[in-house]
Amino acid sequence: MKALEIAKDTYWLGVVDYDHRDFHGYSQSPEGTTYNAYLIKDEKNCLIDTVPAGMGKGLLCRMAHVLEPEKVDYIVCNHMELDHEGALAEIVAACKPEKIFCSAMGLKSMEGYYGKQMKDWPVQAVKSGESISLGNHTLVFQETRMLHWPDSMVTYCPETKILFSQDAFGQNIASSERYTDEVDHGDLVHRVKEYYFNIVLPYSAQVLKTLPVVGQLDIQLIAPDHGLMWRGDAVAEAVSLYKEMAEQKPRKRAVVLYDTMWSSTQRLAYAVGSGLEENGVPATLISAKKNHHSAVMTALADASALAVGSPTHNNTVLPLIMSTLTYVKGLRPKILVGGAFGSYGWSGESPKILQEYLQNMGAEMPAEAVRVQWRPKHEDLLKAHELGKAMAEALKAKCDA
Ligand code: FEO
Repeated sequence: MKALEIAKDTYWLGVVDYDHRDFHGYSQSPEGTTYNAYLIKDEKNCLIDTVPAGMGKGLLCRMAHVLEPEKVDYIVCNHMELDHEGALAEIVAACKPEKIFCSAMGLKSMEGYYGKQMKDWPVQAVKSGESISLGNHTLVFQETRMLHWPDSMVTYCPETKILFSQDAFGQNIASSERYTDEVDHGDLVHRVKEYYFNIVLPYSAQVLKTLPVVGQLDIQLIAPDHGLMWRGDAVAEAVSLYKEMAEQKPRKRAVVLYDTMWSSTQRLAYAVGSGLEENGVPATLISAKKNHHSAVMTALADASALAVGSPTHNNTVLPLIMSTLTYVKGLRPKILVGGAFGSYGWSGESPKILQEYLQNMGAEMPAEAVRVQWRPKHEDLLKAHELGKAMAEALKAKCDA
C-alpha cells in the first residue's frame, strides 16, 4: 500500500473500501467507496483528513512509505463526520501533531465525538480566509457551512493549486484509478449524480453560494475525500456539473415508482409509463420492492416528474412506498409534476394519500389520482395512460416555459 504523489511533495494516502455498501442511508455503487486523505511534506508536514475507525492502519501504512508518522506536524480536519475522522484518535496517537486545525463548528463536533479523549490535543479553530504556512506551501481555509455539515470547510494550496474539497465533488467509487479522467466518463457522471442527489442535494443553496468562491481560485486539481480526483480540464467540468445539479432546472424525464401485491398496480405503473413516453417524456420505472430507495433519487437527477403507485393495504399505502417517499422528501428534489395511482380491493385510500403527499412536496398534480378496484380492465389502463399523458403535457409546458 504505497502513497501516490499527486503534486511535488503532496501525496494521496487514501483507503479503498471494496466492502462498504450503506453510506448514511444510501445504498451506494456496487463496488464500495474510497476515503481519501492527503499528506504535504514540507518544513511542517501536514496531513489533511483521515479515514474511518478501523482503517487508520491502512493510512499509516501508506504514509510510512514517504514519511514516518511521528514526523507529521499538523493535521487539518476539513470535516468531522466519522468517515473522515473516525480514525483521528489513532492517527493523533501515532503522529503526536503539534497542531490540529478545524473550523469552530468542527471543534464542537470533535468535542462531541472525542470528549475527554481529546483534552490534550492541540486543536486550533480557524475561520474562512485564515491561512498557515508549511514552509514552501500555504494552506488557506474556507468554511463551507452546511456543505454538507455545519463544520465543513475546504483547504486550498495556492502553490500546488490543489483544492482539498472534503465531501464536495466526491463520488462513491472504489477502484485502482485515482483520477476521473481514467474511468468511463458516462459512469463517472452517473456516480457524481448518484452521490449528489443522495447526499448533497438538500444543501444546493449553499453549493450555489460556494461555487463562485471556488471559481475565483486557480485550481489544477480537486482532491475530494471520496472517490477520484479531478485534474486539469476536469476541474471546470466538476464545477459545471455541481452548478447544474444544484440548480435543478426542469428535466424532461419522469420517474414512476410503484409497489404491488398482485400485479394490478404494476400494470397501472407500466400504463402510466407508456402514457409518459408516448407523449415525449421518457420514463424510468422503479419497483420499490426490487430497488433500494436511493435508486429513486439517482433517477430523479435526470427527471422532474414523479408518479407514485401503491395498492391499498390496511387502509393506507404499502410500507416500502412510504419509506421511499420519506427518504425522497427529506432530500428535497424539485418535483415539478406528480401523479398518483393504485389498485384496491375494499377501501382504496392509497391513491388519495399519495396525491396529497406529492402535492405537499410541491408537485403540480395535473390529473386526479387513478384508483382501480380489483384487476385493471382495458379502460382502467387507458385512465392510467391518460395520467401519464397529462403529466407529460404539464412537464413539457414547464420545461419549454
Ligand atoms: Fe464523507 Fe460527510 O462525510
